[in-house]
Amino acid sequence: MIQATAPGKLILFGEHAVVYGRPGIAVPVLDVTAHARFIPGPDLVVHALDLGEVIKIKDEPEHPLSIAVKSTSRYLKKDTPSGQIEIQSSIPLSSGLGSGTAVNVAVIKAMAMAMGEIIAPEHVSEIAYEIEKIHHGTPSGIDNTVIAYQSPIFFTSGECEVLSIASSFILVIAVSGIRIPTSKTVLDVRHNWRRDTTKYESLFDEIGHLSFVARRCMLDGDLIELGRLMLQNHHLLQEIGVSSSTLDRFVNVAVEHGAYGAKLTGAGRGGCVVALCQPSSIKALEQDFLEEGAERVIVSEINR
Ligand code: PMV
Repeated sequence: MIQATAPGKLILFGEHAVVYGRPGIAVPVLDVTAHARFIPGPDLVVHALDLGEVIKIKDEPEHPLSIAVKSTSRYLKKDTPSGQIEIQSSIPLSSGLGSGTAVNVAVIKAMAMAMGEIIAPEHVSEIAYEIEKIHHGTPSGIDNTVIAYQSPIFFTSGECEVLSIASSFILVIAVSGIRIPTSKTVLDVRHNWRRDTTKYESLFDEIGHLSFVARRCMLDGDLIELGRLMLQNHHLLQEIGVSSSTLDRFVNVAVEHGAYGAKLTGAGRGGCVVALCQPSSIKALEQDFLEEGAERVIVSEINR
C-alpha cells in the first residue's frame, strides 16, 4: 500500500516574530497526524474523507492539494500517476497545529512514493512552502519545515537547525475550538507594525531573544527555565495583540496547576494554548482545561 503520514506541529517560541526574521522554535506533535493513501485508478482525484470533499485535480488546478500533486511531479520530473489520493487527519482544523500543511506534506510524500521515489525532508519542505506562499501571503516557513523534518527545530529566515534536546518533555495542549484564519491575524499584525514600527520591532526583538535562550534550555534540559520563558513569550504576544480572554484563561489555569509555563501557540486570537508541566500534573490539568471549555486536550511527548 502506498501511504504516507505527516505530524501536527506546534510553535513553542517566536510566532509572528519569525515572519519578521527573528528566530522561532517549533516541535512536531506526533500524537495527531495527517495520512495520505494513493490507490491507482483511472482518474486523478483527491478524496478528503473527513470533509466528504472530492477534488478533481484537472478541474481545480488552484486547489492547494492539486498544487501539491503537480509540484511533486514537477520536482521529480515524472508524469503524475493517475489514481485516487485519500486523505484523513486527526489534527484539529485551523487551530495552530499545522493541519493544512501536514495534509500537503503527506500528499507530497505519498505522490513521490507513487512515482517510486522518496524526497528528502528539506525538499518536501520547499515544495510545501511554495503552496503556503500561494495561499497565506507571507508565511515564515516554520510550519512546513518542522512538519517535513518531524523534529524539534530552531528556525530563522528559512535556515533550520534540528535540535537534539537533552531530555524529552510533555506538553498539554488545550484546543479552544475558536477558529480564526492565520492570514487575517498575520495581516492585522502587519497593519499594527506599519502604524507603530518601533514598538513592534522591539517586541519582535524581545521574542527573538527568548527563542535564543529557550534553544539553550532545550539543549540543556532546563524545563523550569523553559516554562518561565514560555510565560514571558505569552505576555509579549498579549502586547502584540494576538491573545484573547479564552487563551489567557487557559494560561492561568495551567499556571494555577503548577505548570512550568504556558502560552498561546500559532497565530493566536483562537487556536490552542500549550502548557509544559510535570508528568504528575497532566491528568488534573487535562481535566481542568476541559472544564474551562477546551474542545479537546492533546497530550504530547516531545523527543529528540
Ligand atoms: O497558526 P499557524 O499554525 O498557521 O501559525 C502561524 C505562525 C505565524 O508565525 C503567525 C505565521 C508564520 O508564517 O510563521
